Amino acid sequence: TVLIVDFGSQVTQLIARRVREAGVYSEIVPFQSADEAFRRINPKAVILSGSPHSTVDIGSPRAPQEVFDADIPVLGICYGEQTMCAQLGGKVEGGHHREFGRAFLDIQEDCALFDGVWAKGTRHQVWMSHGDRVVEIPDGFKVVGTSTGAPFAAIANEARKYYAVQFHPEVVHTPDGAKLLENFVHRIAGIQGDWTMSAYREQAINAIRKQVGDKKVICALSGGVDSSVAALLIHEAVGDQLTCILVDHGLMRKNEAADVVKMFREHYNLPLILVDASERFISALEGESDPEKKRKTIGRLFIEVFEEEAKKLGGADFLAQGTLYPDVIESVSFTGGPSVTIKSHHNVGGLPDRMNMKLVEPLRELFKDEVRVLGKELGLPEHFIGRHPFPGPGLAIRCPGGITREKLEILREADAVYLDEIRKAGLYDVIWQAFAVLLPVQTVGVMGDGRTYEFVCALRAVTSVDGMTADFYHYDMSFLGQAATRIINEVKGINRVVYDVTSKPPGTIEWE
Ligand code: XMP
Repeated sequence: TVLIVDFGSQVTQLIARRVREAGVYSEIVPFQSADEAFRRINPKAVILSGSPHSTVDIGSPRAPQEVFDADIPVLGICYGEQTMCAQLGGKVEGGHHREFGRAFLDIQEDCALFDGVWAKGTRHQVWMSHGDRVVEIPDGFKVVGTSTGAPFAAIANEARKYYAVQFHPEVVHTPDGAKLLENFVHRIAGIQGDWTMSAYREQAINAIRKQVGDKKVICALSGGVDSSVAALLIHEAVGDQLTCILVDHGLMRKNEAADVVKMFREHYNLPLILVDASERFISALEGESDPEKKRKTIGRLFIEVFEEEAKKLGGADFLAQGTLYPDVIESVSFTGGPSVTIKSHHNVGGLPDRMNMKLVEPLRELFKDEVRVLGKELGLPEHFIGRHPFPGPGLAIRCPGGITREKLEILREADAVYLDEIRKAGLYDVIWQAFAVLLPVQTVGVMGDGRTYEFVCALRAVTSVDGMTADFYHYDMSFLGQAATRIINEVKGINRVVYDVTSKPPGTIEWE
């Protein structure tokens, strides 16, 4: 086992995932209970995660001393590097060299972490996200890599098998990062493994049976990949104890509810109920502009509708959702972990405290692309697995500012035109997620011979592997021009289109 000490980074689960990809089992523990976990697990290696904290602050988190007393390999990542240095006699300085996003690492020395991946004298893209930096390394360490903002971007004490990096090898924007983590678990720690997705499927089915027993489950089906995979998995585990419910909250994309119901009824033998609750959602949201209030309101109404439906079915004990790890981590302060809350994803932090049903969330540890692999295991059709993600709160969080029926209608139309253009250009499968956003801003234009004063539509398209980090999609300008022309010509209420060129971080994929 590899023990991952979580200091609250947004991407700690990605470390676990990379270790999983190397076929090795790992456990993530919050730093507060890391000493107890260390004694219980007796790990073969330890990885220290990143963190929103600063080691220069009094009382900032530390790795348990046991980690350094045991004679085992340790890898520090970002904050993990800083605390390792601070704890072993080096020095860290508070941030005047903030580095966010893409950076370049110059390899100064060969070391076991880089074996077969990076050679001395070469330069490689890495992903940075830090404010503090190491200014003095502990005795026994040498510098193996440098970047412009971090003279100690990668350091090693090969005798003790200690390695530390300022960049994030776990994110896909460090293209060779997975190989570094594989080197750490295989070559440095000497662990081999056999973890696979079909092992996960068996594990998950057993866990669902154990949790649910002979009780009834209702599943919130959105028609997206996640809730569909969750439904199929639960159906496999407990059969007709499951009923799926699709709530049309009036915030779906054009024709979406009808299309999803049609697809499910044609392909699957799952009990499925469609509830039209659009009036109820929209009247509760009308005029609301605070992103967190929107999310909370939607979360609350969802649960109300589900509880009502469950009652009609004669009661249900469990509510199943396709919650993924990124949904959990990005609203994790609700679940008691050490990270900062970015937003309340509606199927996690947006839920009210008082809820009669218990949650079944079989995908909580997985990332989107892992869920797609699991979907394939379960026999979902290709075109369905490839659908772009769509957030539970739907168009409400793509309509910054106050929500009105009129704005939702404009947005729905613009989004449909945009996606149609993407499909026609053969780009749908190349892009990870694309959508339109309706800005609460009106601008002046001229159409025909008249003055217009209408809304601005922003287009978003990103590439990503797991939704945790993302880059904006680099369209050909002529594609953007064509999409903009069609939107302005065909959608009444929009007279200007802009393109969002923000990566994640520092942006998020959705605007709210
Ligand atoms: P952000 O905007 O946090 O989004 O970068 C990451 C991914 O998660 C989706 N998303 C959600 N999915 N409920 C969901 O089921 C939510 O409340 C929610 N908010 C964001 C988003 O579309 C992107 O794919």
